[in-house]
Amino acid sequence: MTGQPRFTVVVTDQVFPSVETERQMLAGIGAGLVIADGTSEGVAAVAAGADALLNTYLPVTGELLASAPRCRIVARYGIGTDNVDIAAARERGVVVTNVPDYSVEEVAVHTLSLLLALIRRIPDATRLVAAGGWGLDGLRPIRRLSGLRAGLVGYGRIGRTLASYLTALGCEVVVHDPFLTPGPGLPPLVTLAELLAGCDAVSLHAPDDELRNERDPCRRFLEWKRKRNGAAFQWQQWYGHQYKSWEHLGFLYRHDVGPGIYAAG
Ligand SMILES: NC(=O)c1ccc[n+]([C@@H]2O[C@H](COP(=O)([O-])OP(=O)(O)OC[C@H]3O[C@@H](n4cnc5c(N)ncnc54)[C@H](O)[C@@H]3O)[C@@H](O)[C@H]2O)c1
Repeated sequence: MTGQPRFTVVVTDQVFPSVETERQMLAGIGAGLVIADGTSEGVAAVAAGADALLNTYLPVTGELLASAPRCRIVARYGIGTDNVDIAAARERGVVVTNVPDYSVEEVAVHTLSLLLALIRRIPDATRLVAAGGWGLDGLRPIRRLSGLRAGLVGYGRIGRTLASYLTALGCEVVVHDPFLTPGPGLPPLVTLAELLAGCDAVSLHAPDDELRNERDPCRRFLEWKRKRNGAAFQWQQWYGHQYKSWEHLGFLYRHDVGPGIYAAG
């Protein structure tokens, strides 16, 4: 692109090592990129000239949109649009887009990895061996996958992909998704209470804001498990990995307590 770009696209925040792909694609329509510093103030400082915003985690609030009067589109790098003020965007005639297949396989595979690691007690075993130990003492129980009942909250792209893996490995899968009606090819649909009460593993794959209104399903799951298994729970710091949002998770994530993954022992 030579000379001044016709359009300016402000990248509010992003997680990739480079924005060269975006730069090259947008150059094709005469748009140039401005990379903001990832803060609301930093974006607001360059927003006046923005024809479009590309955001990842930074909330695009009504206030931020007001500081970008030329903006015609907010394109979210990702699936959820819960960090964009959709009502404010609609009021201003700003189109909001997402990437519906963003990381579907990665999240499903990651979730499965966490499930397998927890069931097979891999983090505990790793710690044991790293400390010079060996053997199964302290590692039991180690569950079989076959016969394990997994409850998936949300049965969209990620839930379905994960279910296909779990089913292939011999797990029973049940689902809570209030937007589905029972039909051929679907696993049993249950209420959230039934799912939490009757599953060995629970994984959440529904939009955050939908579940925020639920009264701490993680706690209910844990309470039930505690009653049944006598407080046999593991709380694992998962190698210090910071799980910031609970849709990230493999297993139940207690967002009120901090990073951690729960699994029934
Ligand atoms: N952290 C990450 O890296 C990452 C990556 C990809 C997706 N995600 C998140 O994972 C979630 C699922 O993604 P997806 O591609 O499967 O989305 P999707 O839109 O295909 O499916 C979401 C499903 O959740 C269901 N749902 C909505 N509200 C519900 C509720 N209250 N209880 C139960 N089910 C409910 C919907 O009916 C739908 O079937 C999204 O919130 C997305 O933002 C996170």
